[in-house]
Amino acid sequence: MQNTSNWIKVLTLTLGAAALAGCAGVSSKTTPAQISAQPFGATPEGTPVTLFTLRNANGVEARICNYGGIVVSLKVPDRNGQLGDVVLGYDRLEDYIKDSPYFGCLIGRYGNRIARGKFTLNGRTYTLATNNGPNHLHGGIKGFDKVVWEPKVLATPDGPALELRYLSKDGEEGYPGNLSVVAVYTLTPDNALKLEYTATTDKDTVVNLTQHSYFNLAGKGDILGHLVMINADRYTPVDSTLIPTGELPLVEGTPFDFRKPTAIGARINQDNQQLKFGNGYDHNWVISKPMGQFGLQARVTEPTTGRVLEVLSTEPGLQFYSGNFLDGTLTGKGGWVYQFRNGFCMEPQHYPDSPNQPNFPSVVLKPGQVYKHAMMYRFSVQR
Ligand code: BGC
Repeated sequence: MQNTSNWIKVLTLTLGAAALAGCAGVSSKTTPAQISAQPFGATPEGTPVTLFTLRNANGVEARICNYGGIVVSLKVPDRNGQLGDVVLGYDRLEDYIKDSPYFGCLIGRYGNRIARGKFTLNGRTYTLATNNGPNHLHGGIKGFDKVVWEPKVLATPDGPALELRYLSKDGEEGYPGNLSVVAVYTLTPDNALKLEYTATTDKDTVVNLTQHSYFNLAGKGDILGHLVMINADRYTPVDSTLIPTGELPLVEGTPFDFRKPTAIGARINQDNQQLKFGNGYDHNWVISKPMGQFGLQARVTEPTTGRVLEVLSTEPGLQFYSGNFLDGTLTGKGGWVYQFRNGFCMEPQHYPDSPNQPNFPSVVLKPGQVYKHAMMYRFSVQR
């Protein structure tokens, strides 16, 4: 029964896609911008999952499924116009469900760590799951990355878009308040994947939503040769469990200074306490621009292919994670065995453990307010 209704949904969306192709308002160089949908299996509970393919007129293609809001693949051109998939992940839904280090997911209700899985709000202490050593990570045992979202295809002036909705119930994973979340993924004519998150609540709560794609702009090997620029003068050093100490020291003179483009591998093995705690880079940078203002957080260039990734966001922080927990035990798309540092994440967000750090920007959302986070992964090439 559920399967039949899923098929009806898929057909409806495909029809919607045909209409969208005609009205996306994108100047057609090769093919019109479009979106299509296909079945992507089902969860162990039997809920069907759909894989959506967004394509723009340049042939750039993003595949997103409504389980976990996962970006399953992202094909962008290199300097010779050759399209290549630049994100890590799996071919099959069951592999995402079985064992995934958050490949491509939508992360929430609170992205990153909350110390000891506890925070106090309005005098009441809330207890969350501790799923990362002593701490809470990425929303808990069943975070937003492991739920099925309600999809809707949209025609927008910016290109084909997929809207995903989810109602996170009061008490889910220990968080207070019914949180109604909407995420919109848009593939723009200028080769960017734009992500817009909004959320409302009926009780005071904490929110920090982000995207967890692992990138490899070369589409193979390790990421140590990628050049990274991060628009930040300061970062948030951590303790041995990756909880910020609360200090915001300058990056100057440290391996955390990415103000000028620097290879990820250039300093990653330096004898540095912070790098030891992260087993590489696994830290939050304090972005040098006013919070709420949409702008550049980071730029990553891959010299051999010329691919460039720019990360833009309204959020005050950026977690740069150099894939230090990849260890050759997971085999991904096309049989690629993901070895140590074969992918990196750039996660625009609030600083880790903000609910317990009074000096960090607030992550509290109250009834009547709207949480908003706009971010973008924009692709181009350097010749
Ligand atoms: C964190 C890492 C963590 C990874 C999980 C990142 O956002 O910073 O510490 O291991 O997510 O895959």
